[in-house]
Amino acid sequence: MKTVIGNWKMNVGVRESVALARGVLYALRGKRVIPEVVLCPSYTALSEVRKVVARSSVSLGAQNMHWEEKGAFTGEVSARMLEEVGVSHVILGHSERRQLLGEADEMIGKKVAQALDKGFVPVLCVGETKEEREAGEEKEIVRTQLKKALQNVRLSKKAKLFIAYEPIWAIGTGKTATVAEAIEMHALIREIAGEILGGAEAVQVLYGGSINNDNAYEFLREEEVDGVLVGGASVKLSQMREVLEAATEAVEGQLAA
Ligand code: PGA
Repeated sequence: MKTVIGNWKMNVGVRESVALARGVLYALRGKRVIPEVVLCPSYTALSEVRKVVARSSVSLGAQNMHWEEKGAFTGEVSARMLEEVGVSHVILGHSERRQLLGEADEMIGKKVAQALDKGFVPVLCVGETKEEREAGEEKEIVRTQLKKALQNVRLSKKAKLFIAYEPIWAIGTGKTATVAEAIEMHALIREIAGEILGGAEAVQVLYGGSINNDNAYEFLREEEVDGVLVGGASVKLSQMREVLEAATEAVEGQLAA
């Protein structure tokens, strides 16, 4: 299976989110096989997008979640609140939150543990900066991020966890990692996650960072790439349609193999 996750960030309001979700469903209509699709609108659009994707195979994701059950945490949203509006997946540790909003590894670890405890599928983001890659430190950086994010995790039998490798220098820049760089890091992520969790069966590794209609297939056709986390291109329906088409072709390729 291949997964396409659309991270709409703070880019679209309720009306546009509904239109995008409808467009995605339309693009998947009539296909014999379809990839797993998760749409992550802003909090304010979750309820309306839920109505669109209800009774479809498309899942609803949130872009963040707090680690506590409830309390005096102004501006935060809990697992229970997300569950109430039909959310099943949650992006955690996105580099924009790490870099711009001071989200630390320790918080991300607590969020991942809470998300799994409450039955969500976390989409944990890891990745190095340009300077770190230039210094040859990317593997150590990702290893540390994974250790801190997964240390408190207990996986139940049916738990599932996405880990998105998102090199920070590739996000929103139009510059992707090479497929070879992605594959190398994906294999390492699987290995490290397997060491920490006592097996990597529950883990699926996604690539994210400037995925679009032109480059989606070259990543998705690789066995090491379980899917893509798409930002900018996911709010442009014409591009998203082609990313979904690429994922469908990749799934067909898997079935034929
Ligand atoms: P991008 O964002 O596709 O716009 O590079 C990806 C992400 O931030 O998840």
